[in-house]
Amino acid sequence: MACAQIDLGEVPDFWKRRHLLTLEELTAEEITLILDKASIFRQAIAEGQRKFSLLVGKTCVNLFFENSTRTRNSFALAARRLGADMLDFSASTSSLSKGETLIDTAKNIEAMGVDAVIIRHSTPGTPKLLSENLRCSVINAGDGPHEHPTQGLLDILTVRQRFGRIEGLTVALVGDIAHSRTARSNIWGLKKLGAHVIVCGPSTLVSPRWRELGVETSYSLDDILPRVDVLNLLRIQFERQSRRPFPSVREYALLYAMDRQRLARTKPHILILAPGPINRGVEVTPDVADGPQSAILDQVTNGVAVRMAVLWLLLGNR
Ligand code: CP
Repeated sequence: MACAQIDLGEVPDFWKRRHLLTLEELTAEEITLILDKASIFRQAIAEGQRKFSLLVGKTCVNLFFENSTRTRNSFALAARRLGADMLDFSASTSSLSKGETLIDTAKNIEAMGVDAVIIRHSTPGTPKLLSENLRCSVINAGDGPHEHPTQGLLDILTVRQRFGRIEGLTVALVGDIAHSRTARSNIWGLKKLGAHVIVCGPSTLVSPRWRELGVETSYSLDDILPRVDVLNLLRIQFERQSRRPFPSVREYALLYAMDRQRLARTKPHILILAPGPINRGVEVTPDVADGPQSAILDQVTNGVAVRMAVLWLLLGNR
């Protein structure tokens, strides 16, 4: 397939990043730059352009120590669409099982000529640790409950696409706030771009301390429904909990599942997001997840464009 031409415009002098570890550390200008480049890739993909020779000769590796459908595959697709080689690392069949440390493993992979390590790990701070020990770029693809910056970026891009702006919007993150890296990245990104953010869920999953990040807290989805522009429905992360934070999943769904009755009480332009995977019937009913207000699959499409923008800005621009 012939490679398409694409005009990505200038990269301002303020962009000097080698790694993408968190949205906490990015400025509003840096976040907007990534979103702007992702929008150009998104438009090109929508026009049927699939292959660009922007990262020919570069090599990326997916180092995933947790399962993934969306992030792992969209990073692989993004790298290949930019012309880079993609090395797929399997933690379960690697020499980690023989006692090799994570840093040694990563250094050995880097020594094969890798330009970017895309890491997902259950321990917060693992991407930062690698960035301090490797010469190549490191991208955080989710570190425990800490951050998932490209998920935050693709969520924000989806909101910006629908509303044309972030400033002045009210965005509610609903569900398992305590264990959600997506919540943290969304909060940092949305707040920097001027949104009002509400975190909503059972009190066992929404500590009042979240207010220290400048967000509103709520324990009642029904109370906040009429004043939100965007609902981002987060999965209950049972795998990160030592004890169930509510009596039963049925009771959680009664209070927090987004269903048709609740949808009728929202603004007409409400945008429904979910980072996925979704548990149908727990945080959202199937008719709402698949309905016209839902942008859940648009988020996935935007995920490829965001990851193309991130890879290009980190690797293609040196
Ligand atoms: N949203 C998200 O990170 O999905 P995966 O776990 O499938 O990558």
